[in-house]
Amino acid sequence: MSTEDEPPRPEPSSGPDFAPGRWVFLGMLLLGLAGFAAFNLLRTPPPLPPPEVAADPLLLEGRNVYVARCLTCHGPTGRGDGPIAGHLTGPPVGNLADGRWKHGDAPADVLKVITKGVPETRMAGWGSVLEPDQLRAVAGYVYFLAGLPIPSEIREEIPSLR
Ligand code: HEC
Repeated sequence: MSTEDEPPRPEPSSGPDFAPGRWVFLGMLLLGLAGFAAFNLLRTPPPLPPPEVAADPLLLEGRNVYVARCLTCHGPTGRGDGPIAGHLTGPPVGNLADGRWKHGDAPADVLKVITKGVPETRMAGWGSVLEPDQLRAVAGYVYFLAGLPIPSEIREEIPSLR
């Protein structure tokens, strides 16, 4: 028995009509794709690291952490002019780039501020968010922003980034 012998299937005449919903769905999908394309075409590419950073694994890692976690407050060059710095309650962000740090400039001081934060201020402790090597790397990057040499204590504790 061949398939031609089967009785024709009844046309689905009644029942809900899904066509309009499908067009709305397709329209939204296209809008989403267009938005995604526009976002990628129009966004400014992130600035490349300067050569002295690119050449130093510790600074490169520190910069990655800094750009992702610290820049919003401390600003691209550490001057305390990040996009949300002006909208914070409590003590101002301050300037990391002048190297005159309120909480001290010994490696242990800087690491402690970054790891534990400063109570009663918007400076949070990053010890539970970042890996120990990332904490050291970003501390090293803070010295770099201030134009200071990276303390050997910091560099020597990160064998993978030396
Ligand atoms: C939500 C905003 C915010 C973010 C994000 C932030 N900080 Fe801070 N940070 C502050 C503020 C505010 C202070 C000033 C605290 C004070 O007055 O004692 C500060 C202080 C500091 C200090 C001490 C400066 C000094 O003068 O002693 C260091 C170092 C520092 N931040 C590093 C970092 C690093 C590294 C990150 C990213 C891992 C980071 N901060 C992320 C707001 C922020």
